[in-house]
Amino acid sequence: MNHAELQMDAQGRLRHFLTIEGLSRQLVTDILDTAESFSGVTEQTVKKVPLLRGKTIVNLFFEASTRTRTTFELAAKRLSADVLNMNIGASSATKGETLLDTLRNLEAMHVDMFVVRHAESGAAHFIAQHVAPHVSVINGGDGRHAHPTQAMLDMFTIRRVKGPDFGRLRIAIVGDLLHSRVARSQIHALNILNAGEVRVVAPRTLIPADAASLGVHVYNNFEEGIRDVDVIMMLRLQRERMQGALLPSEHEYFRLFGLTEKRLALAKPDVTVMHPGPINRGVEMDSQVADGPHSVILAQVTHGIAVRMAVMSMAMGQKAQSGEGNA
Ligand code: NCD
Repeated sequence: MNHAELQMDAQGRLRHFLTIEGLSRQLVTDILDTAESFSGVTEQTVKKVPLLRGKTIVNLFFEASTRTRTTFELAAKRLSADVLNMNIGASSATKGETLLDTLRNLEAMHVDMFVVRHAESGAAHFIAQHVAPHVSVINGGDGRHAHPTQAMLDMFTIRRVKGPDFGRLRIAIVGDLLHSRVARSQIHALNILNAGEVRVVAPRTLIPADAASLGVHVYNNFEEGIRDVDVIMMLRLQRERMQGALLPSEHEYFRLFGLTEKRLALAKPDVTVMHPGPINRGVEMDSQVADGPHSVILAQVTHGIAVRMAVMSMAMGQKAQSGEGNA
């Protein structure tokens, strides 16, 4: 079963959340609307709803993460679930236990959901194929393949800032697309939401071979790529995934592809600047841009909580009815 088939149940509801690819526009919009209903919870004095009370969620992180792990944890806590954080790199894996054995042991503790981050593409899918029928798996980023909740929080952020009509937007995704699971998920999400134009902008060595088949326009010149765009989505240079000399130097990269205030002026006057974090200041972008008036980088982090609450509650079959998120 492929990712898209595995993540839906017979009634067409979300059971796991592994990839954006293959989701219907209705479901993507449903996730965004549900997240909207949860965003109020985060601003209440008592930041909790009882939707997942009595459920146990395990954050199974085989790869380092700050934003993703903590916002998944906060999202689970705000849904009143019990959360366990497992940094596997630091435990069983180093003692030689297989992934499946780790999984079986955690399942024996009656866990209801795994949030999985792994350096290997396909890891969350593998786990989803092996869990008990009542257990849900959420992909928190697998290798270069997908990072669906990141893409959903990016769509949520764009919708908040630019309104619901993606058809009138020109969007540039800039940087290390070759190694980016975030970019792949963003492209699928933007296509599903019928974005007006999606551009990918990067040096030739950092554009994946299949880029054009994803229905995007490819630019190797930064200035041309961001001209007149409504949204710029920056990506981090994924040094840890690079093999060989794909780039001359970080200094040279910044000279050609670094987002500065001067270059930002080429985009639309009300351009929105995004980045999934962590930012390499002075490599992908200037601090003045990262901290400037066009940047929504910290809002993205905030939105990550509501979006993850939406995905977790929907996968557990506990979608908030309208208004319930604020109860
Ligand atoms: C991204 C990731 O880990 O895939 N970050 C994140 O989840 N906020 C992107 C990155 O590491 O550059």
